[in-house]
Amino acid sequence: MKRCYSFVLRPAFPVSFHQSRFISLASSVTVAIFIAALLTPAGAADDPGVLLPFSDAERRMILQHGPWPPPASRDPSNRVSGNADAITFGEKLFFEPRLSAKGSTSCGTCHVPERGWADGRKLGVGLVEVDRNTPTVQNVRTHRWFGWDGSSDNLWSQSVRPLLDAREMGMTERQVAEVVRNDADLACRYEKVFGARPPANDEAILVAVGKALAAFQETLASGRTPFDDFRDALEKGDLKAAARYPQDAQKGLRIFAGRGNCSLCHFGPNFTHGEFHEVGIPVFKKAGGVDWGRYEGIKKLRANRFNLLGPFNDDPARADGTSTRHVALVPQTFEQFKVPTLRNIALTAPYMHNGHLATLPDVVRHYSEIDPTLLHMAHLYFDPLVPEAVPTDTLLKPLKLTSIEISYVVAFLMTLTDDQAPHKPGAAAPCR
Ligand code: HEC
Ligand code: HEC
Repeated sequence: MKRCYSFVLRPAFPVSFHQSRFISLASSVTVAIFIAALLTPAGAADDPGVLLPFSDAERRMILQHGPWPPPASRDPSNRVSGNADAITFGEKLFFEPRLSAKGSTSCGTCHVPERGWADGRKLGVGLVEVDRNTPTVQNVRTHRWFGWDGSSDNLWSQSVRPLLDAREMGMTERQVAEVVRNDADLACRYEKVFGARPPANDEAILVAVGKALAAFQETLASGRTPFDDFRDALEKGDLKAAARYPQDAQKGLRIFAGRGNCSLCHFGPNFTHGEFHEVGIPVFKKAGGVDWGRYEGIKKLRANRFNLLGPFNDDPARADGTSTRHVALVPQTFEQFKVPTLRNIALTAPYMHNGHLATLPDVVRHYSEIDPTLLHMAHLYFDPLVPEAVPTDTLLKPLKLTSIEISYVVAFLMTLTDDQAPHKPGAAAPCR
């Protein structure tokens, strides 16, 4: 059995922003961009701001986190991706509690628009509590794998899963099909999108429901953020505009993209490279047992009749299935979880696959104090074929940040929040 370890949760650190002005200049590296209006006090309404001297390497790392939003693209495995009627149908289904065994739970019960499309809970609660924290469904169209363990390789199969999961919505394939067949409005929308009345084949309806749900979720893109304005100003060389980005956030960004190594996993415009890592979060489940993460996820992915290698992929070339065909069930995947997006991260506490960390300062402190020898210890106890601990994620080293540095990284993470009003489910005109 795995060695037991735990991480101490402390109350949020005291933030003393007045210290902040003195620290960062001392730590600055190559001066690549000149410093504007150095003597202007920060925070005034007409404050022209100060741009830190970002090095070329830091600048490159910052620019690859954009542009935002990414260009819209269709999912070739889903023939109704991008179809306006499918999007409306999918939205109705997303907020439809009749798609659960007790008529009580919709996708929107756990993926709540006002809560960044998550639920604010440690663990999701459907018909009963589940083992994992509810992730946002914003920006899901940019992902290759779905779920914390990547047990789905496409958005429509991920959308079918909670319908049939006894803990989430608890339906059978037949029950889902009956809801669509027996409701005049839903049946009409089905016909509009798929070109025929709902058929007698339950499985066909289930997959179609998944594809309409996916079409809707693909539209849930997060909006522009203060970070994006900064990043674009930097790209254009508009140093005056860039200097308006708050000082503390600039200092945090420097740690994030520099010695913190955060950008290497939280890579690209959506702040995730979309693959899996272990970052030392305890994996014991509340109900007992261990969450093996990606290792079990790969097994489920291969066994999933709705994966991209199966008959329901609408792309005859099966081009997107290549990653699934080649995914390897290796011991490194024990306890790995998908690198989550950090866009709108301020809205979706608590954090990590099991909600283990309550606040953003807790998360940054976790990385600051991480003990690399505890990563990937599991194999020693789990699998006799793996005689030694597998090489750990060498990216993760205790950063030993001061509390003021932790506050800078948090200040940066806060600037990844958009100012979009929460989505309001549309009142679509009755289907005719
Ligand atoms: C009980 C709360 C709950 C309900 C109800 C629920 N979800 Fe989720 N959702 C979760 C949790 C928890 C996960 C993470 C699952 C995992 O890792 O195994 C998740 C994951 C997802 C993901 C993957 C996100 C990512 O970044 O990989 C998508 C997409 C999604 N849900 C869509 C839906 C849709 C569509 C429905 C309705 C058919 C739905 N969910 C119903 C809690 C819920
Ligand atoms: C080795 C890759 C890697 C590095 C480096 C890394 N992260 Fe992560 N990050 C992850 C993974 C994987 C998770 C999810 C882990 C889990 O749930 O067990 C995560 C989770 C998070 C979360 C919680 C997101 C959520 O929705 O729950 C935040 C915030 C975060 N990381 C910030 C950072 C910051 C800040 C740094 C740099 C100090 C950093 N990460 C460095 C891989 C990485």
